[in-house]
Amino acid sequence: MFDLAIHGRVYAGELAEAWVSIKDGVIVKVSSEPAGRAAATLELDDAQILIPAATDLHVHLRDWTQAEKETVETGTKSALAGGVTTVADMPNTVPKLETGELVEARVQLLKDRSFVDFAIHAAPPAESAELRKIRRAGAFALKLYPPDLPSFRGLLKRAGSEGLKMAVHAEDEKMLAAGRSPEAELVAVRKILGEVGPRSQVRFAHLSTSEAAHAVLAKKQSHAGLTIEVAPHHLFMDSRTSMARIGEASRVNPQLRSQANSRAMRGLLKEGCFDFYATDHAPHTLKDKLTKGAPGFPGLELALPLFLTKTEDVPLLCRMFCEAPAAYLGTRKGKISPGYCADLVVLSRRRWRVDPEKFVSKARVTPFVGEELRFAVDQVLMRGSTVYREGGFVRHPALLAR
Ligand code: NCD
Ligand code: ZN
Repeated sequence: MFDLAIHGRVYAGELAEAWVSIKDGVIVKVSSEPAGRAAATLELDDAQILIPAATDLHVHLRDWTQAEKETVETGTKSALAGGVTTVADMPNTVPKLETGELVEARVQLLKDRSFVDFAIHAAPPAESAELRKIRRAGAFALKLYPPDLPSFRGLLKRAGSEGLKMAVHAEDEKMLAAGRSPEAELVAVRKILGEVGPRSQVRFAHLSTSEAAHAVLAKKQSHAGLTIEVAPHHLFMDSRTSMARIGEASRVNPQLRSQANSRAMRGLLKEGCFDFYATDHAPHTLKDKLTKGAPGFPGLELALPLFLTKTEDVPLLCRMFCEAPAAYLGTRKGKISPGYCADLVVLSRRRWRVDPEKFVSKARVTPFVGEELRFAVDQVLMRGSTVYREGGFVRHPALLAR
């Protein structure tokens, strides 16, 4: 007997009516007829579809000394409200995540408090001997910031030999002082591309310009381990629109670009040129945004409905936000298929307006304020159990992906 059967319109390679049968947290059958008796049944309505839950490779959960910006609890509840059941946390915490001991503390904090499964990026340590401890403590990757890029080649080699992946924030540090121009990204991307080998595994975080994307795409033909991550705000927002809506709070790294650039980025998106859709959920208080120019926006609650509203492309969303990032982390998630984890999202076609005051995240500033979206997350399941529904959350044990 199954624990749960879900019946309705399901995305399992194509969108079609199906029965999804679940036992012990795992999808065991996807069929056009009921596969057998189930202890419970979830019947979707005509406006609803079932898709795999998302994996967000780029999230800043803060907490520790920055709990006023976000905590693991608020950040991961925000993830669930957006249909995300795995997040990869970023290491620019305070203190910065650059030792095995701190990675261990971070893993423990997330095990205790997170509402979703997680993976951890570490920062490059002062001594390369620390890399092994960082890996053993549970980090899966190193994240390099602009000041780390001069050491890129050495770090790539040493991280690789410890089994750590690598993600880079590609903007040239020296050029950033003169304003964050699109060229600063292109220069850094070209420098990195000049230093990778044919088997290097390097993920370009939040690429913001079509020029930089074209440079990576050209190299990818012979270097299959290069991957591109893109953020919602570089695809679906531009600097002028954001300035008109939220003024100086528009700051984000890399910056928002021109309308022509975001149009070009959407062209590449549609052609399937990008590997991962990731939020760069970077929460700040309104005060820090306005008085310190703190860069970044919350993205977890909007990313999925926004993508579908702007593209209407369920297969592309499921590939870039569910299947590919889960495969990258090595989790059995992101597909509605036998043997995959029953982490699922019930979406509905329903109109709602972005009101940051209603966010679960502590961060309330977004350039998408006031936009009407046409898809909404109704319910989220993790391992076959409902963990989010109508604003209510249930915490399940959070697992580390490594
Ligand atoms: C990041 C943050 O707030 O942690 N902000 C951002 O705009 N992406 C840090 C950064 O990348 O500068
Ligand atoms: Zn970031």
